[in-house]
Parts: sequence; C-alpha cells; structure tokens
Amino acid sequence: MTYASERETTRGNLLIDSPELYEARFPDHQRLAGRWAEDVLRRYGAGPRVLDIGCGTGRDAAYLHGAGRTVAGSDLSTAMLEYARAHHPGPEYRHADLRGFDLGTFDAVVCLDSALLYCHTDDELDGFLGSCRAGLAPGGLLVAEMRNGAFFLGRTELLDAPTVNTFSHHGTCYRSTTTLYLDRAAQLLRRTRVWTADDGSPPVEQRSAWRLLFPQELRHRLTAHGFTVLGLYDRPGPRTEPPWREGDDAATTVDADRLHLVARLTR
Ligand SMILES: C[S@@+](CC[C@H](N)C(=O)[O-])C[C@H]1O[C@@H](n2cnc3c(N)ncnc32)[C@H](O)[C@@H]1O
Repeated sequence: MTYASERETTRGNLLIDSPELYEARFPDHQRLAGRWAEDVLRRYGAGPRVLDIGCGTGRDAAYLHGAGRTVAGSDLSTAMLEYARAHHPGPEYRHADLRGFDLGTFDAVVCLDSALLYCHTDDELDGFLGSCRAGLAPGGLLVAEMRNGAFFLGRTELLDAPTVNTFSHHGTCYRSTTTLYLDRAAQLLRRTRVWTADDGSPPVEQRSAWRLLFPQELRHRLTAHGFTVLGLYDRPGPRTEPPWREGDDAATTVDADRLHLVARLTR
C-alpha cells in the first residue's frame, strides 16, 4: 500500500507549516484538550505509557507528560515536530504516519482534533487501527476526538456559505475564508481555504479533506480490529459548545458535530 508523502498531505498547509500560527489561530490556554484526554485516561484506568498520534504542536502530549505519563508524540509534519520539541518539551517526539506506524508499546493511543480523519480510505483506516492494535498492550485504550460525519446527514449549516475568520499574530492580521463541501462518493468533507494577510504577501489557496466517519461504521471497524467501544458520544468535549468541564459525564447522543471515542483492545 502506498500513501501520500508528507509533502502531499501536510506541507503546503499554512497552519501546519507554521505551528506558531496554528496555536495563535486555535489557542487552548486552559489546556482543555489535554485535560479532557487525561480525564478519560484516568476514568478508564489507562496505564502510564501514552502515544499522542497526530500530535501537532505537542501541547496535549506535553500536558499528559506533566500529568505524570510517559508520552510519545508523533506527527507527519517535521515542522510540527520541531516546534513541539522546542516549545512543549517532555514527551519524546517521533516522525510517523498515522496510517501505518510502529512506535513501540503503549497503554493508550490518543488522537485528537480530527487527526484520525486524515485516514481517507478504508485501507488507511485499517492501517491506523491495525497499528494501534499492534502497539497497544492488552486492555490498552484508544481515545479519539474528531468531527462527526453523521452531523452532516440532513444538515447544511456548515456547507451553505464560506466561513471567514481573522486573527492577529505578531502585528500581522490573517484572514481565512473556508469553504466546505461534501464528496459523497469518497465519503470526504473537502475544504478549500484561502489565506490573506495584511503584510503584503499574496493570497494562498489550500485544499484539505477529512474522512466522513459514521458512528456505526466506526464501531464496526473497531470491533473488526479487536476493540470494544466503551464510549462514543457527541458531547461534552474540548471542542464542543459548551466545552467539557471537569466532572462532566458523557452524553448518550451522537448527533452534534463532534465525535468522542473511547475503545479498549479486548482481543
Ligand atoms: C488538526 S491538527 C491536530 C493536532 C493535535 N492533535 C491537536 O489536537 O492540536 C492535525 C495534525 O495531524 C497531522 N497529520 C496529518 N496527516 C497525518 C498523518 N498521515 N500522519 C500523522 N500525522 C498527520 C498534521 O500534521 C497535524 O499536526
């Protein structure tokens, strides 16, 4: 099986090439994502060895390290890994493709903010789940947080019009215009994003896509790879509105735009 290289999948993405901008655009000052992940790991009694796959800037991996875990962070983007080593030290950061990896043995794999949805095809998804299975100790946990494909069934509110976002960083104002559309045959949510900045640089257009994964489909695939699903719910989580708070219990619904998954390797 051949996969797209780093250049094709993560380079040429302004935020992934510029991790500092990524954190400026998606700040998480309260470390909500790391705290949520640690809370889930504790609730389900995970052991200390954790792999954060698709770790990005490393801030969640570093939070888990600070909570006393032995953490490896891994990403396909060398820019992200360099930034993580410099700005969020503690974890061991390693280059790997989440669609097929061998990074040792862990008690838990966490995969946050839709990184899992970079598995676009069924083969890639099998590559990810097979690697998790091989890399998890018996009873190990898979914890993931992502967009919910089912949200788009009958809803067009995120598709009807482009979304415009602005933020400032070191005196430059950045503006992104994002258009989402469904590629139904490929089960992908495709994204076109145009960046402009008031520093005189020319506009940049970038394309990306997430797999549209549906709850039943995810359960089925997890079961086929030896996992038992312990939790699959839409809220609360680090990117829901209102956001997750310590002590919150998981909903029983899987309807809103985020999907939270907890699964245990049972065979
Ligand atoms: C939306 S960011 C999320 C980063 C981090 N998990 C977080 O929550 O802040 C997605 C990350 O997945 C990484 N990524 C994309 N495709 C990947 C792949 N095939 N293997 C490993 N990482 C990948 C990107 O480089 C990026 O850092």
